[in-house]
Amino acid sequence: MNTKIIGTGYDLPAFAADNDYLATLVDTSDEWIVERTGIRTRHLAKEETTTSMAVRASVQALERAGMKAEEIDLLIVATITGDTETPSTSCRVQAEIGAHRAVAFDVNAACSGFLYGMHIAEAFIRSGIYRNALVIGSETMSKIIDWTDRSTCVLFGDGAGAAVLAGTEEPGILSQIVGSNGGKWEVLECQGRPNENPLNKEERKPGYLTMNGQEVFKFAVKTVPVCVEEALEKAGVAADEVKYFLLHQANKRIIQSVAKRLGQPEEKFPMNLDQCGNTSAASLPILLAQMDEQGLLQRGDKLVLSGFGAGLTWGACLLEW
Ligand code: COA
Repeated sequence: MNTKIIGTGYDLPAFAADNDYLATLVDTSDEWIVERTGIRTRHLAKEETTTSMAVRASVQALERAGMKAEEIDLLIVATITGDTETPSTSCRVQAEIGAHRAVAFDVNAACSGFLYGMHIAEAFIRSGIYRNALVIGSETMSKIIDWTDRSTCVLFGDGAGAAVLAGTEEPGILSQIVGSNGGKWEVLECQGRPNENPLNKEERKPGYLTMNGQEVFKFAVKTVPVCVEEALEKAGVAADEVKYFLLHQANKRIIQSVAKRLGQPEEKFPMNLDQCGNTSAASLPILLAQMDEQGLLQRGDKLVLSGFGAGLTWGACLLEW
């Protein structure tokens, strides 16, 4: 049994903040942000929530897949910015879309979360436990950003993307690689609530995202090409046979470096980071859904999805569209 993506969807908040807007908040400039990252605009949530964006992306993905919510067996939301500590965002999405038959849970693997979700979904479908899955990446990064820290606040955006996966005899996912290195957890982190129990009156605010940008940059340009090559090798597919490499939309320079290391032309690396910034777990499914919407993906095309993030975590997925 193979696993194929049969529908995609995405949602972005209405408000788009350009670099000049951010320059009114912190000491930065459009020139610095564009040159170092390639980002020009990012969408920021006002009314929207992690749940509401996940719901809208899911409804679109189900519509494009020609499926009803009640047919979904497995519902996974990849997020680090759920609206509630408990229940999971996936349970709230389940209720809102009416996927009452599904088992629903969240995955926390930061920007690699969607790839982790795909990995889990494929394992369940291939084993015959479930027939299909709705995998969503949804993030309101703006609520864990320190809006006084110019080194991080210019990088991230909000949004959601979703994909419906189904078991099929046709080729679909050809190989997947995921990895974690908890030894480097402090490189990119966001502390949770302080412990205010009777024994431990921890006096600090809930955490904001902090990052060692250069460490993350080095990790990304080293790890992503390796895991992409591993995924290709596992399936016996050459890099030249791949139509598009969809990489986590964190930084244009990281994507250019990976393209160079893989010996592939930059045109094969689509980008929306100029418009969306880094939307963490939502980054890959948003890009995929936008390309699908624009009619850029043809049946039989080989695609690689690959990303990296806090944990540290990483992953790559080779699939036939
Ligand atoms: N505007 C203007 N100046 C800024 C700035 C901003 N938004 N952010 C940082 N700077 C300054 C720094 O303070 C520093 O100034 P100094 O030289 O006076 O100390 C200077 O710019 C250079 O900072 P540095 O951190 O060395 O820049 P960089 O070239 O490494 O670029 C990142 C910074 C964050 C863009 C880059 O490291 C990066 O993209 N890393 C990966 C991050 C990532 O992908 N995170 C998500 C993982 S999922």
